[in-house]
Amino acid sequence: MIQSKSLPLTITDLTVMKQRGEKITCLTAYDASFSAVIDKVGIDVILVGDSLGNVIQGHATTLPVTLRDLEYHTQCVAKAKQRTFVVADLPFLGYTTPVLAAKNAGKLLRAGAQMVKLEGAKIDCVKFLVDQGVPVCGHLGLQPQSINLLGGYKVQGKTEQAAQQLLAEALQLQQAGAQLLVLECVPAILAKNVSNQLEIPVIGIGAGVDCDGQVLVLYDMLNIGVGSRPRFSKDFLQDACSIEEAIAAYHQAVKQLNFPTAEHSY
Ligand code: KIV
Repeated sequence: MIQSKSLPLTITDLTVMKQRGEKITCLTAYDASFSAVIDKVGIDVILVGDSLGNVIQGHATTLPVTLRDLEYHTQCVAKAKQRTFVVADLPFLGYTTPVLAAKNAGKLLRAGAQMVKLEGAKIDCVKFLVDQGVPVCGHLGLQPQSINLLGGYKVQGKTEQAAQQLLAEALQLQQAGAQLLVLECVPAILAKNVSNQLEIPVIGIGAGVDCDGQVLVLYDMLNIGVGSRPRFSKDFLQDACSIEEAIAAYHQAVKQLNFPTAEHSY
């Protein structure tokens, strides 16, 4: 395991973990205190996700979250961590053109992110960002920024055609230079196939145990969210004596392939 507490993890370290078959752990965080605990436990990646719109701001969707919100929360997180790799979301309509994507990504990198995440097969944006030196994480499957198009938080890639399209888009993102991919709410068998076919690490949420790593929304896994906990998450605080212990239990469960189980998968 790559366990140095002082040296920040890099995307190269995460890629080596995939090659070695070591699972990558990821949690969302939005502030310095949680960032410090997550870093202390040894979680590999913090995602400053636009899920902050739901769990911090109390919105029904991620759409109201602004670039300024993401910059602010990225600064809070980045100040408190030493080792953990930090990825920040680009906001809804924050990458409608490659130039806008680069302008916004620059602000997130200056705020302390090491990589930016964007939803969908935005191949031109990914290519342009990578050309400008911005590391990119893709996000396929359920894309919460498209919730009004999708008509609900539903499992994606269920038909043969949809599964083929998702795999093709994942390969295109990798080809365009994306170095990490989040797969949300897809059948476990599809996520396994995508993870096997890609050289870059695939981080799943509601995507089964065979992804190269797992991510959960911190407030969901502590069961302190404002809404109901999604089926693919698990209350890790229930059997723990502290938040630190709950996060450590999640870390161990992912590393040892004990989470997610079939009950958290599709
Ligand atoms: O914003 C977020 O927290 C995310 C995760 C659900 C992957 O994108």
